[in-house]
Amino acid sequence: MNHKKHIPHVIGVASGKGGVGKTTVATHLASAMVHAGQRVLVLDADMGLANAQIAFGMRAKYNIQHVLQGEKSLSEILLQTPQGVWLAPGASGSRDMASLDATATARLIDAFDDVADQFDVLIVDIAAGISSAVTTFLNACQRRIIVVRDEPASIADAYGLIKVMVNEFGLDEIYLLPNMVKSQAHGWQLYKRFNDICVRFLNQSVSYLTSIETDEEVSSERAKYQRVVTQAQLSGTPRDFVRLADAVGKLPPVATVTGSTQFFVHRLVQAQLSP
Ligand SMILES: Nc1ncnc2c1ncn2[C@@H]1O[C@H](COP(=O)(O)OP(=O)(O)OP(=O)(O)O)[C@@H](O)[C@H]1O
Ligand SMILES: [Mg+2]
Repeated sequence: MNHKKHIPHVIGVASGKGGVGKTTVATHLASAMVHAGQRVLVLDADMGLANAQIAFGMRAKYNIQHVLQGEKSLSEILLQTPQGVWLAPGASGSRDMASLDATATARLIDAFDDVADQFDVLIVDIAAGISSAVTTFLNACQRRIIVVRDEPASIADAYGLIKVMVNEFGLDEIYLLPNMVKSQAHGWQLYKRFNDICVRFLNQSVSYLTSIETDEEVSSERAKYQRVVTQAQLSGTPRDFVRLADAVGKLPPVATVTGSTQFFVHRLVQAQLSP
């Protein structure tokens, strides 16, 4: 019998530049992992826009702002999407939330301790840029997927974000995810070029799982406002997300206590103390 407490796998999805596919990746990866039998919670930590609920075709009455204001507990605001993913909705269009301070961010992260036993995976949809809320969330995750498109601004901003992660926070477990590429070969080339730069200038490599090709289905779902395929349609989940979910599911557990605010830190500490 394993007496150790269960620690959910926490994956942050970020990018330097906005609009490159973070929410698409977070929501489709979550759906594909649910299909693979995992219990998945998505935290919409993009406070300014909160588009994960729109991507799932939902409208939330309560969101994490209510948790922070002490009006609701985290469990009370969770919604189950038609895809079987659980969602902690973000506060949409709230100026206060767009610039969450360090204390509030830490409080929100701590609130997840209460739901640790209910989930195998927590996927955090993080805002674009390098604000302090963004770096706090990146620090709080066990692994980070950085979404990048093959265009100069996206590459430069992804590099800028990774530079901060490595040089200022000493983070590793960074995975580059080329999105909207023409082919898997194209995505791999983009990763190789990018990784060479990271090794050369940051003395740190980034990892690769797969690439996500441009998919008409993904963009047309958007157009129809049914942005993530439903459970019944999951056999049709774009295969690149199925492959991504499979690769993420095969990664070994990471239980590293870093000293920053972390999701499920009490359990991480326990796991480290009793190996
Ligand atoms: N692999 C893909 N194939 C086709 N379209 C895609 C793909 N990935 C993302 N898109 C489209 O690109 C647009 C931006 O995606 P998304 O909203 O996920 O980006 P984001 O990084 O979350 O943006 P923001 O920074 O505003 O939160 C959407 O219209 C989405 O449908
Ligand atoms: Mg988004």
